[in-house]
Amino acid sequence: MTKADSTRERLIETYRRKARHYDLVSRLSPVPGYPEHAQRVRAVRALNLHAGDAVVEIACGTGANFGMIEDAIGPSGHLVGVDLTDAMLERAQVRVEAHGWGNVRLVQMDAAAFPFPERADAILSTYALTQVPDCGSVIAHGAAALSAGGRWVVLDLKLPEHAPGWLSHLGVAVVGTSASLDQWMARRPWETIRAAMQDALPECSWTELCFGTAFLAAGSSSALIRR
Ligand SMILES: C[S@@+](CC[C@H](N)C(=O)[O-])C[C@H]1O[C@@H](n2cnc3c(N)ncnc32)[C@H](O)[C@@H]1O
Repeated sequence: MTKADSTRERLIETYRRKARHYDLVSRLSPVPGYPEHAQRVRAVRALNLHAGDAVVEIACGTGANFGMIEDAIGPSGHLVGVDLTDAMLERAQVRVEAHGWGNVRLVQMDAAAFPFPERADAILSTYALTQVPDCGSVIAHGAAALSAGGRWVVLDLKLPEHAPGWLSHLGVAVVGTSASLDQWMARRPWETIRAAMQDALPECSWTELCFGTAFLAAGSSSALIRR
């Protein structure tokens, strides 16, 4: 097994353990009182969705954003949720059935290998893409699939830029230390995501949230693309 395979296996095991209580615990994450829901609302609004839109959510987990997306696209729209972890998708499936959404397709796959559909009006990823080692390629593949004027929005956590070292270490101590967290800090994947968005999309914005502990990256494909 390669190092990448064992990292992926560890990640799947971690989310299998978290899946059952994920929706409850994520409201208290990364610390109780963190404005996670407000950030999600902001990210979905940044997609600028319309009725009938085709949306892809990368690393959708239990589908915490599905309700807001469904409200915007309605039954004539389509939503594809992609995630690596079976147990997270099982929770998403329960949510889909409970709401009777007939326009959602769930795909268990590594985001890096996901073949984006030919037409995607909007692509979203929240609190997940910085965990994907090939996050830059995922941005590029998604951008290539966007319809004219389509939107790519990423919301995720990051380390604050100007925080003193001791504050970052305190944050890590609060959130919990693990080898993967150390790797995450060393990789600085939010920088990869920002650069990939700027490379792939003509119009991009980058907003730091909550004292630089999170970011909202949003980009639009050219309105002139014809497929
Ligand atoms: C913190 S959860 C976030 C879930 C959801 N996006 C949300 O906002 O609640 C991270 C999710 O990313 C998924 N994930 C991590 N690496 C992935 C990859 N390479 N491809 C697809 N999904 C991945 C995990 O299985 C997990 O469901």
